[in-house]
Amino acid sequence: MNHIKSKQRVADHGEIFTPAWMVEAMLDLVKGETERIDSRFLESACGDGNFLVQVLRRKLAAVEMKYGKSDFERQHYALLGLMCLYGIELLPDNIAECRANLLEVFAEYLNLDPSDDLYRAAFYVLSQNLVHGDAMTMRTHDAKAITFAEWGYLGKGRFQRRDFRFDSLTQSAAYSAEDSLFAHLGKHEIFTPAKTYPPMTVIELRCRSAGGCSMSGQASFTLRSRNPDVLTCIANLSNDEVFTPPEFANRMLDTLTEAWAANHKGANLWADQTVKFLDPCTKSGVFLREITSRLTQGLEREIPNLEKRVNHILTKQVFGIGITQITSLLARRSVYCSKHAKGEHSIAKGFATDDGNIWFKRMEHTWAGDKCKFCGAGKSVFDRAEGLETDADTFRRDLSIAFQSPTRFLKAA
Ligand SMILES: C[S@@+](CC[C@H](N)C(=O)[O-])C[C@H]1O[C@@H](n2cnc3c(N)ncnc32)[C@H](O)[C@@H]1O
Repeated sequence: MNHIKSKQRVADHGEIFTPAWMVEAMLDLVKGETERIDSRFLESACGDGNFLVQVLRRKLAAVEMKYGKSDFERQHYALLGLMCLYGIELLPDNIAECRANLLEVFAEYLNLDPSDDLYRAAFYVLSQNLVHGDAMTMRTHDAKAITFAEWGYLGKGRFQRRDFRFDSLTQSAAYSAEDSLFAHLGKHEIFTPAKTYPPMTVIELRCRSAGGCSMSGQASFTLRSRNPDVLTCIANLSNDEVFTPPEFANRMLDTLTEAWAANHKGANLWADQTVKFLDPCTKSGVFLREITSRLTQGLEREIPNLEKRVNHILTKQVFGIGITQITSLLARRSVYCSKHAKGEHSIAKGFATDDGNIWFKRMEHTWAGDKCKFCGAGKSVFDRAEGLETDADTFRRDLSIAFQSPTRFLKAA
């Protein structure tokens, strides 16, 4: 292996790569830590990843020993191992190579293809953890304060993320020094996260990657981004529409999980491939998205192939009715990652129409005497207001059909 790229780079940046034997010898000095899946390593001048790659290999060996028998655990703990590696590098070609080298080792271990969700989730994690910046000034190449994501695994396929500023983290030791002004304080009192995220699954991580859900494996690492959950942003907008924040939707789904278990001898709602979910007034699609995400985890055993599993869930289990044309498009974007259910970027592959299972339709009343059979609207009132029908009328009718005759709706798909 070549330890220098050019004399000029050695002179300008002290760029000399550490030989493999020395990397191994140095890592052996902290052997126990390198073999612990969730120990965190930061290489503040990581080059193309000589140290980080070897730490990853050791972590993956530990994953294999501990979780080799279950694909689900193996994949999630391997991702956790990757999540615990951090780097900073000044030169753009080095940081790109470093990310690519780590991704290659990770993908090889799990036999992943660039189109796999886990590959894309790992791609996203690396774009966050390996920073193109200056470790001395603690700024990114575009002059922002460097922040690092602290990842944790909550189990059942869900990851927790909190972001901390690098400059705060580096002062952690000073704060806890014996005579320091802050020595008596708990670290939590000083080091509050710059940002806390709701728990995320592999699919959600994948959807955060630079190209979103449709990112091609060839996409450049230079498209780094720190995308917040768009549905959280929408929920926070000052607006006359009220959107449910993802965190709140999840709390409601937790209640549903418990109620289902209580009524079904402890059964896991999300591991049942026959249950159908209908959001009769979907807006951002947040409930349907979170339901899809939970089913994707819960049905892992019953339908091991991820693509088949997601297709089954989206075509047979998850349904919505948009209140308006625009909210139906929004919901489709949230659930299918495309406003066209059968479009090229859609994660669902089995739909014949662009609506998929998220419908918005203007429906005519079905009169039975003076009343609509479905929504109960009076014909005489309707005749008076002909031509002035509002979204609310359509919505009321759709909703009442959904409640009174769910099969009519489900069959209409
Ligand atoms: C001696 S090399 C070591 C690379 C790698 N750690 C290894 O052992 O193979 C130093 C690396 O630090 C990078 N570097 C120099 N100054 C830096 C700074 N202020 N912040 C981040 N990286 C820097 C260089 O571009 C170079 O890739």
